[in-house]
Amino acid sequence: TLVAGLFNPMWAGAAQPLVMGFSQVGAESEWRTANTASIKDAAKKDGITLKFADAQQKQENQVKALRSFIAQKVDVIAFSPVVESGWDTVLREARAAKIPVILTDRAVSVSDPSLYVTFIGSDFVEEGRKAGRWLLDFAKKAPNAELNIVELQGTVGSAPAIDRKKGFEEIIASNPKLKLSRSQSGDFTRAKGKEVMEAFLKAKDKKIDVLYAHNDDMAIGAIQAIEEAGLKPGKDIIIISIDGVKGAFEAMVAGKLNVTVECNPLLGPQLMQLARDVVAGKPVARRITTTEGVFPAEVAAKELPNRRY
Ligand code: AHR
Repeated sequence: TLVAGLFNPMWAGAAQPLVMGFSQVGAESEWRTANTASIKDAAKKDGITLKFADAQQKQENQVKALRSFIAQKVDVIAFSPVVESGWDTVLREARAAKIPVILTDRAVSVSDPSLYVTFIGSDFVEEGRKAGRWLLDFAKKAPNAELNIVELQGTVGSAPAIDRKKGFEEIIASNPKLKLSRSQSGDFTRAKGKEVMEAFLKAKDKKIDVLYAHNDDMAIGAIQAIEEAGLKPGKDIIIISIDGVKGAFEAMVAGKLNVTVECNPLLGPQLMQLARDVVAGKPVARRITTTEGVFPAEVAAKELPNRRY
């Protein structure tokens, strides 16, 4: 009967699905699209109810999303912060509401590190170092030549932009022939990468030998600008970028990009497991770093069919 059904003891004991509020940076790059798909798929497979909010690369939208998750009393908040600073207040609000916070992909800089439970993502400084090491090796081919480098930075104030710059500069500092002459943000997008590269090329004060782009999308945008300027990307200008998305492998196969440093966006399955552990009160590592490689153009054709994003 209806009454018996209403008081079904099975229902009373049934566990509620875990609810996660996730605030994503935006949809600025191929990497980000793969990251979003990984998180949505993993939540579905894991039976986790996902409340997903796209911040369109604006911190104020993320703060609003976090506050809305707090108001909805989600079980756990996960987010990939657009920028590093400015999170103390909203994270304190989450703590006051007893909602644990997991950082994914990008780190924050807060006065009290216990405001978040754990961080899962890449080591961006190491990615910058890997890019720098590739260039050091490349420079050995012509040890007496000075190489003029331009840099396309990611979003101003974001962890990957800060760290990738730092790691790269740390490594190239050991060779005085490697000179970084210009550095500007292309906001991690193709359109901006193209626009800023056009401006670099127009300056014409110094021949550009090397482009270091903080992500593949900006490198792909810049490749267009280089071709439109009548130059050969990958040959006249050596191009180094980060992420390892399919678009980068295709550009390498076409001879237009020289190397990509991998940054793995497929964080969904690990994040869901982590969320379950955190909510269950199990001890978790403070930082979980993803394992990543470096793919020079020479291996691109062989690797392309294996790429998952
Ligand atoms: O935070 C990771 C970075 O953000 C990726 O390298 C980039 O493509 C994305 O937009």
